[in-house]
Amino acid sequence: MRLLVTGGAGFIGSNFVHYVYKHCPDWHITVLDKLTYAGDEKNLAGLEPNRFQFIKDDICDEATVDKVVADCDAIVHFAAETHVDNSLHGPDRFIYTNVVGTYQILEAVRKHDKRLHHVSTDEVYGDLEPDSTEKFSETTPYNPSSPYSATKAASDMLVRAWVRSYKIKATISNCSNNYGPYQHVEKFIPRAITNILLGQKPKLYGKGLNIRDWIYTEDHSSAVLAILEKGKLGETYMVGANGEKSNQEVLEMTLELMGKPKDWYEFVSDRPGHDLRYAIDARKIRAELGWTPAYTDFKKGLAATIEWYKNNRDWWQPQKAETEAKYKELGR
Ligand code: NAD
Ligand code: TYD
Repeated sequence: MRLLVTGGAGFIGSNFVHYVYKHCPDWHITVLDKLTYAGDEKNLAGLEPNRFQFIKDDICDEATVDKVVADCDAIVHFAAETHVDNSLHGPDRFIYTNVVGTYQILEAVRKHDKRLHHVSTDEVYGDLEPDSTEKFSETTPYNPSSPYSATKAASDMLVRAWVRSYKIKATISNCSNNYGPYQHVEKFIPRAITNILLGQKPKLYGKGLNIRDWIYTEDHSSAVLAILEKGKLGETYMVGANGEKSNQEVLEMTLELMGKPKDWYEFVSDRPGHDLRYAIDARKIRAELGWTPAYTDFKKGLAATIEWYKNNRDWWQPQKAETEAKYKELGR
């Protein structure tokens, strides 16, 4: 298997590359990544050149995409602009990478008849009432709220149209919020951990009552690999690990694990259009593909993530000042 991974130098992509490298020893992996502010080639350190190749380029570049897709057997497509706050203040890059980039991948997949797995998010479904027991499933109607989720929804729709009209061999997964090593410090959990490590109070948007359904990133990797190997072509799979927590609960647990008082945080202004609650019904992937998450104890996963950030200051410190300067401008 010659596997092409787009966005493989980012958070989830690099965790996936390491996962496949370990679990599929006879596969060759090529990463195509533009190395935006969110990508770092260091995330892929330690991979041997006989089994791994890195190409720095843009998924919107038609000629490059055509060539790398022609040279592989299957593609896992992670590359995207991914941060909701950034999308609210500069949506153009989201249209470009998430929509136009996915279109380029689809056209190359169609031309060269390759297997594609498209990685998406639960945010395409909008949000749920905080006090309901409803969850997102594969049949939930799309209802995105932010430029990020709208462009991811658009990319999913393109994949579905290419499956139906051109019969490309594709699957889609919609996963909940990931956490774990190598996540950029702009995101909630790493931002909180690194603030605390620097002696600064972490920030809670609004009233802190918004709920996210957390999954350890290695469980997302095992789900994507299961879909790539055993998923039914044309199908969508929800990926989640029953990890619903309010932002306040996550922050209090982080503070407790890091030896700080539970209320050592600041409330800041809310995100416009802030989605209230996400929750995933992952029965289909469990029943059809036999997938189960390995990391079901959130506190344990969070403690391991805190350890990683404690031990990898050199990795996150260079991103921190610029990220916090951006937040300062937004008043968050
Ligand atoms: P990330 O922002 O950490 O990484 C994105 C990667 O894509 C970076 O390495 C970046 O350099 C690369 N990239 C961006 N634009 C590119 C372009 N035009 N050409 C080539 N490479 C480009 O993102 P992530 O959190 O690892 O998310 C990866 C995928 O998983 C995304 O598609 C995202 O929508 C999806 N997803 C993320 C989450 C989450 O909680 N983070 C949850 C569900 C699904
Ligand atoms: P984030 O990691 O940006 O992921 P997403 O918006 O895609 O779910 O944010 C997770 C939640 O945490 C979201 O409800 C916004 C909130 N949040 C804070 O309360 N404080 C912060 O400093 C950040 C970055 C996010």
